[in-house]
Amino acid sequence: MRERVTAPARLEATVSPPGDKSISHRAVLLNSIALGTATVTNLCVGDDRASMLRCLRGLGASIEREADPGGNEANDRFIIRGSSMDGLAEPHETLNAGNSGTTLRLVSGLLAGQPYFSVITGDRSLRSRPMGRIVKPLREMGARVMGRSEDSLAPLAIRGGDLHGIEYDMPVASAQVKSCLLIAGLHAQGKTVIRQPAATRDHTERMLERMGGDITEDGLTITVRPGRTLSATDVRVPGDISSAAYWLVAAACHPSARVTVLNTGINPTRGGILEVLRAMGARVTVTHVRSEGGEEAADITVESSHLVATEVAGELLPRLIDEVPVIALAACFAKGETVVRDAQELRGKESDRIRTTVQGLSRLGADIRETPDGMVIRGTGGLRGAAVGSHGDHRLAMTLGVAGLLATGETVVRGAEAARVSYPNFWDDLRAVAGEHREA
Ligand code: S3P
Repeated sequence: MRERVTAPARLEATVSPPGDKSISHRAVLLNSIALGTATVTNLCVGDDRASMLRCLRGLGASIEREADPGGNEANDRFIIRGSSMDGLAEPHETLNAGNSGTTLRLVSGLLAGQPYFSVITGDRSLRSRPMGRIVKPLREMGARVMGRSEDSLAPLAIRGGDLHGIEYDMPVASAQVKSCLLIAGLHAQGKTVIRQPAATRDHTERMLERMGGDITEDGLTITVRPGRTLSATDVRVPGDISSAAYWLVAAACHPSARVTVLNTGINPTRGGILEVLRAMGARVTVTHVRSEGGEEAADITVESSHLVATEVAGELLPRLIDEVPVIALAACFAKGETVVRDAQELRGKESDRIRTTVQGLSRLGADIRETPDGMVIRGTGGLRGAAVGSHGDHRLAMTLGVAGLLATGETVVRGAEAARVSYPNFWDDLRAVAGEHREA
């Protein structure tokens, strides 16, 4: 599917981004192994949600959807009847995590603790992403896990059970690896201690704590102990800052813009994009800060800004890892040279996002070059429309769509349907932000 985008004279809109994907995945997974019934609202939308629900249902989890009578998807209710820690069953079929790394890695943590055999796989992109990072520690805990390519790629075959806690120094700052091990640790004998090289999103820790899990944090070290039954807990999921980021950047770079995103998660372990935009001189206002279900949310307004270059490196990376493509786009409109370093993790995402971001923005006339662990972007103040491709990567598709709102001429985004992985309404929202309204 192709989408054609041109720059409007003005960007003015209020957008409700879809529910946060990371929080949603944890809400359905952890409630599936809790005791009692929980209701989750504003669950994320898109193919990744379908992947997580499919895998959990494949294990016998009871998750029912009650559609909002008013037709507002954000108000759909997902009712999860928890089967407690040992209530899930050996799957009859291979579990398919589709394009979703979070599904594959978190569900593997669950499977490692279950005394049965399972196989989990994903689409072509997911089957090429690094899984050795979970296989190695899960084996140390006592699970039998095998995969392709010397146990480094999916499909993974897991025979779990009889786990024991370990002390693990994570070689990469990954919330998925951390969460996989925390979930496995719930089923292990003794404590599991995980040391992170830098802070990564902490939604699993927050939710486990709310559900009564035995989890403690000390700086970058997290300890989980088994033995406590998790209590089913209702969750109203805040909007996803990774989806909101597209509109925040669009507004900051467009010469006549004011965009507000409502009810968006601002957990500090996810807030790197706000720090970077502020460091670049963007006019960002955060209002109505509230706490909902153990996570902070707010409304965020961004107006047209005179951006300056910045450096994105070090401990900041895990806190904005999914926003790097759209930050690179913002850097095209900033005065000076922006350097992104320490971002080698991007090469193992849905695409090699260092390469695909540099390729896409170069085609639009950006002065951008690839480095082994990041990119260097010299702001030229403008882009010119061209035909570009998403490489099947949702974040690329959306970054290039926003680039079309800022470039001269017409931008054609091929493979635009990739956006449906995390944001199925993205192209409709883009038209609304651009002031176009499609006839019904
Ligand atoms: C996620 C963690 C990040 C992120 C992904 C979602 C999560 O991946 O890129 O989109 O929900 O835990 P890594 O843990 O591999 O960095």
